[in-house]
Amino acid sequence: MSDTQDIVLEIHGLKTNFYTYEGVVKALDGVELFLRRGDTMGLVGETGCGKSVTARSILRLVEPPGKIDEGQILFHKFNQETREIETVDILEMSDQEVLATRGASIAIVFQDPATYPNPVFRVGDQIAEVIMLHQDLRTDVLDLKIELLEDSLKENVAPEKRSAIEEKISYYKSLYDDPPEPDEKDAKAAALRRAISMLSMVKMPAAASVASQYPHELSGGMRQRALIAMALACNPEILICDEATTALDVTVQAQVLNLLNQLKKKIGTSIMIITHDMGVVAETCNWVNVMYAGTTAESCATAELFKNPLHPYTAGLLTAVPKLHENRDRLPQIRGSVPNLIYPPTGCRFHPRCDYATETCKQEKPLLEEKQPGHWVACHNPLG
Ligand SMILES: Nc1ncnc2c1ncn2[C@@H]1O[C@H](COP(=O)(O)OP(=O)(O)OP(=O)(O)O)[C@@H](O)[C@H]1O
Ligand SMILES: [Mg+2]
Repeated sequence: MSDTQDIVLEIHGLKTNFYTYEGVVKALDGVELFLRRGDTMGLVGETGCGKSVTARSILRLVEPPGKIDEGQILFHKFNQETREIETVDILEMSDQEVLATRGASIAIVFQDPATYPNPVFRVGDQIAEVIMLHQDLRTDVLDLKIELLEDSLKENVAPEKRSAIEEKISYYKSLYDDPPEPDEKDAKAAALRRAISMLSMVKMPAAASVASQYPHELSGGMRQRALIAMALACNPEILICDEATTALDVTVQAQVLNLLNQLKKKIGTSIMIITHDMGVVAETCNWVNVMYAGTTAESCATAELFKNPLHPYTAGLLTAVPKLHENRDRLPQIRGSVPNLIYPPTGCRFHPRCDYATETCKQEKPLLEEKQPGHWVACHNPLG
């Protein structure tokens, strides 16, 4: 997989454990996944299967007693200066490099929008702050100055004042070739203007007035859009949405996800959507990774997964796929329950729930293999 040019992120053998008093929770046991540039990938699986821990591991946000113990998280990063792709292992980065990556190259929108964005700052100011940190505003400042001067020309001004303003305008225009570093106040004004245009881009109604509101004044759907605007404000190469939409009603959810797909085309971000909902996957993702109890069960194109699931677990998930407009946010039941990850089953972690399990399944952990072209599965007895 690693020789493929179009992959932006790949994870190999990722093991993340939680060292609790009750014992070691083996939350991720060799996760394998890859994200192609420009794809919208769905990461699905029942509650507790390790979707959020995977997302947190990617950004090294796993907190004690959790620890990433093994694996590789290769980020094929686009270097703005050399305009070349360079490969870095996020797990080998210094803390400083991780901080720079977080929010800049890889952004994450978390599960619970009620606790985030920061309640004490105005929405526009929060987005503007991200923009000031991550975007070059030098020409924006010139645009803004020229626009203000041109506006003032529309009013009744004395002829000598008019020519002074016109002179100033042509002076600013001459600076475009090598724009100077703006001062803090000008940069702030330009960033706020860009924040408002980001809010319009995520189809926020009355973007300019929303910018001056506080998060609690917005509805859940609007807050979600504000969060996405904030995540996109740093032009990330990868956007991870951890179930950002399940708290919303289904119509808003569909709108937000469609919007993400439109924006993706515009700004070229690769997206990872974490969800329980196969309906969401069907409607918005072109690739799917199915997780089970901290392992990758299956990975392929969405249409292929629905047509030809190879893992018995996936087949179970698909037996009753809810439509996006049906009010269901849980997966259909599969016999048995998710195992305790302090004492996970031996061999294939799914074997106690699997109708096709054999002695081998109890003893040997299946590796994720490309069983059919473009279709990976970790199963000793795949269907199909
Ligand atoms: N702080 C923690 N301490 C102990 N165990 C944890 C901790 N955080 C996560 N885990 C364990 O890691 C496993 C994976 O959890 P994770 O939150 O990634 O699941 P998920 O797939 O995101 O579930 P959901 O769909 O409910 O969000 C679970 O077994 C969980 O109990
Ligand atoms: Mg989760």
